[in-house]
Amino acid sequence: MAGQGNAGSIQRIANVHLMDQAGIWDIHLHGGRISAIVPAAAAAQPPDQMVHGEGAAVLDGQHGLALPALVEAHVHLDTALSAASGAHNRTGTLFEGIASWAAYKQGMSVADCRRRAEKVLGWYLARGVQHVRSHVDTTTPGLVGLQALLEIRHAWQDTITLQLVAFPQDGLLAQPEARGQLEQALAWGADVVGAIPHVERCFEDGVASVRLAFDLAERHGALVDIHCDEIDDPGSRYLEVVAAETRKRGMAGRVTASHAVAMHLYPAAYAERLMAQLAESGVAVVANPLANLNLQGRFAGYPKPRGMTRVRELLAHGVPVAFGHDDLMDPWYPLGTAEMWDVVATGLLAAHMTTPEEIAAGIHRITSDAARALHLPDYGLATGRPAHLIVVDAHDVFEAIRRRAVVRYGLHGGRLVSWAEPPSWMVQLPGVGQAAVDFRLSS
Ligand code: FE2
Repeated sequence: MAGQGNAGSIQRIANVHLMDQAGIWDIHLHGGRISAIVPAAAAAQPPDQMVHGEGAAVLDGQHGLALPALVEAHVHLDTALSAASGAHNRTGTLFEGIASWAAYKQGMSVADCRRRAEKVLGWYLARGVQHVRSHVDTTTPGLVGLQALLEIRHAWQDTITLQLVAFPQDGLLAQPEARGQLEQALAWGADVVGAIPHVERCFEDGVASVRLAFDLAERHGALVDIHCDEIDDPGSRYLEVVAAETRKRGMAGRVTASHAVAMHLYPAAYAERLMAQLAESGVAVVANPLANLNLQGRFAGYPKPRGMTRVRELLAHGVPVAFGHDDLMDPWYPLGTAEMWDVVATGLLAAHMTTPEEIAAGIHRITSDAARALHLPDYGLATGRPAHLIVVDAHDVFEAIRRRAVVRYGLHGGRLVSWAEPPSWMVQLPGVGQAAVDFRLSS
């Protein structure tokens, strides 16, 4: 699209595919919401007559796929890009990651954290992500990271929905000041209470830290997101505590367990019982395939643990499962450009979910199930919902994932907030000469 200065409201997106319905559709927008989704009127208004450029009120979707804006269910924006500033991890373990970050955060400023986090948020926006849950380390001196993220949440409020988790990286009970820091974070406006029971000093403290997180969430009307059993230890069994507390307190739909990688080491009978408990209690699970394929198995010989929770089995039990990055260029994961298709494709490979149907269903890990994990109201591409949506360069979800489809347009509240053109590739073919490469199966 021309007119990159165009940030006005859009009245209609013409000529798009939808995820669950055949045909070509037009999406009408009014007052920041989706007002109608109707069969395309392309015959009456051919694409070459669509309005482009400054002030365009109609976008030509060019037969791309319209989706609700993507959801990043788990990232640490305060640690993102710190590897580019020296926070490395030579062993690749979770524990060296925590130690490396502990050294980095001692000298971190609000400005440094804000610069790194906003750079990554720009990447997310370009990738079609408009809902982000970021954990923020409350054991950072002066709550510097939280100060930066609170500023960002306010500055970006019309562009990205940003939820902040008060996350005690070094433990909620392991250090005497950690509880006060977390309560300060909630008083300042954190949306979600976190905990990390597997780094507390003993099993009982781990259980107590989970219960304290729930207590604080109830007191502040906050959600809960526990870093739960992120360790290659079949004896790490805090998920059952999370499930039990959720049920006892009637908090179904408001609680998320992140990582849960120890689950792949549990005996089958125990895992089966646990997954039924999670489903019954209404807990969502977030897997982070990129980071956990990196971190897990570092202490193992062969065969090495796969490093991800039981995605297929959790879904079969009716537990919502989301996929997130966890980390981008920090001591726990050294790569990343906020590309959600990479997260989905890697997670599906690690979960052995590779039939065409399973690959296409992978979209729910970064859309509907991720929205459930974040307790987002009004999420989805449907009449009456907020016009937070994207158009990607693919006809269907399978192709979007396979080709890491470019997000052509992103709209938030009906305003254009991102746009891009698909790249093109030229090759010199034997016997043919110069030719354009088309990675699509059909044009
Ligand atoms: Fe995390």
